[in-house]
Amino acid sequence: MQNDILEVLISEEDIREKVGELGTKLSAEYAGRNPLVICVLKGAFIFMADLVKTITVPIELDFMAVSSYGAATKSTGIVKIIKDLDVPVEGRDVLIVEDIIDSGLTLSYLIEMLNNRNAKSTRVVTLFDKPVGRTVDLQADYTGFILPDAFVVGYGLDFAEKYRNLPYVGVLKPEIYTT
Ligand code: PRP
Ligand code: MN
Ligand code: MG
Repeated sequence: MQNDILEVLISEEDIREKVGELGTKLSAEYAGRNPLVICVLKGAFIFMADLVKTITVPIELDFMAVSSYGAATKSTGIVKIIKDLDVPVEGRDVLIVEDIIDSGLTLSYLIEMLNNRNAKSTRVVTLFDKPVGRTVDLQADYTGFILPDAFVVGYGLDFAEKYRNLPYVGVLKPEIYTT
């Protein structure tokens, strides 16, 4: 375990098992529909890679990079598109892949954008959910784990861009983010 990590909250093995369960459900849901599976960079990159390997029906992939407009404006829900999709979503069954839903602002922005572009359907799969952080009424269609109100990192989740590469989800030692 890395030195900055207080404890492992969700192990690599638990994540693998959960991702497989989600992949099984999604394979059933999207059989014969050729969905466009969208990864929300950067956080979702590891979940995306592991999840699509467990989906057994034909899909297409695309990637978006978004960021909030800075910490102070996060609650305004203004999300900046760093990299847009490469392909049109009109008439497509779209599945958004997120690592975590906290306030819900990033996703509510993305869902509205996809609706405006006339996606046929828009569903959300998130590996982690922090319901206590929610400021907008939003729920994923598929959720892996509910997280407590702790500062967690790993498996794509960062603190100041670090720790994304940890293969598990861990609680960060308080002295790391308070100093
Ligand atoms: C994180 C996370 C989600 C979003 C969730 O991304 O990956 O995309 O915040 O928070 P919300 O529900 O309050 O909007 P972040 O903006 O930190 O960018 P990153 O994925 O590059 O880390
Ligand atoms: Mn993100
Ligand atoms: Mg982040």
